[in-house]
Amino acid sequence: MLTLGIETSCDETAIALLHNSREILADVVLSQAQVHERFGGVVPEIASRNHLQYVLPCLEEALHKAQKTLEEVELYAVTAGPGLQGALLVGVLFAKTLAGVYGRPCMGVNHLEGHLLAIALAEDAPQPPFLSLVVSGGHTHLFAVEALGRYRQLASTRDDAAGEAFDKTARLLGLPYPGGAQVDFLARKGNPQAFAFPRALKGKGIYDFSFSGLKTAVAHVIAKEGIPRGQRLYDLCASFQEAVADSLTKKCMEAARQEGFEAIALGGGVAANSRLRSLAKERAEAAQLRLYVPEPSLCTDNAAMIALAGHEAYMRGERGCMALDAKPTWHLSERA
Ligand code: KG4
Ligand code: ZN
Repeated sequence: MLTLGIETSCDETAIALLHNSREILADVVLSQAQVHERFGGVVPEIASRNHLQYVLPCLEEALHKAQKTLEEVELYAVTAGPGLQGALLVGVLFAKTLAGVYGRPCMGVNHLEGHLLAIALAEDAPQPPFLSLVVSGGHTHLFAVEALGRYRQLASTRDDAAGEAFDKTARLLGLPYPGGAQVDFLARKGNPQAFAFPRALKGKGIYDFSFSGLKTAVAHVIAKEGIPRGQRLYDLCASFQEAVADSLTKKCMEAARQEGFEAIALGGGVAANSRLRSLAKERAEAAQLRLYVPEPSLCTDNAAMIALAGHEAYMRGERGCMALDAKPTWHLSERA
């Protein structure tokens, strides 16, 4: 089955063509990060307008790369939420139009399910049940994946998402938006023990996350000594990153142990972080848990994961409908 996936929930316009559930024929991602950089974050109105402008060229490039035509597409899968309303609407209307014109079904996909299932595109994919940590710019959740399509939320952030903490810290340091990858890069030359940053909600059995205190601790350092330069900047980035990776992985391992999971999967943009990946590997090995982490390009926003989530839902017997609408706030445990 040939599925065309569409992702426009935030500031990436992405279109992918997926053959059955593994073979990515094309995965085109046009990032608007540079457009939003001077505002220090995503401007919803600008994001919607850019999606409108990029979506057709993106489709043409994907079809060209895959050497396919729209007549050959058998299923459409589009991110319907959560995300920015105007941005989501562009993708949803685009998908429904194509599906209507070509007489094909159109599935509305939850963006978080896309991140959670990105790991299933890998050669070595986990079989449910497993624990999934989804860490992105807007979300930080731990899900029990009981079966494909059956997710139970075990924990989430009480304030900032992990990616938001990276982006806000980067902004305090005068680094361009989005700052996660920049902090990761600068941290490579730093000492992660240089600053004793706090780890919130350390109690046993508490899996929820909190990152606003950490961001405030960084702000205090800057208020005291100004924006650090050179080695001090590298050390600050490394210490901040260590605190995020430490909290995320500790809670993940603890939840896996308490809930009886033998496998953990990571997903979302922050799962591209080098320290989170290495610390998760270290701790999973020590706890004798199997760890699955997608390639960095499948951690950040893409449409291949949306195509896969739509395809899997269709194979489970779910059917899309042309009344599909954008759902800016959509919890993963709810159906479309
Ligand atoms: O999943 P994603 O692409 O979009 C959302 O659904 O939000 O995640 C974007 C987030 C941003 O906050 C970005 O700074 C962060 O992922 N990110 C990283 C890295 N690459 C992207 N954070 C830390 N280290 C990275 N290497
Ligand atoms: Zn995302």
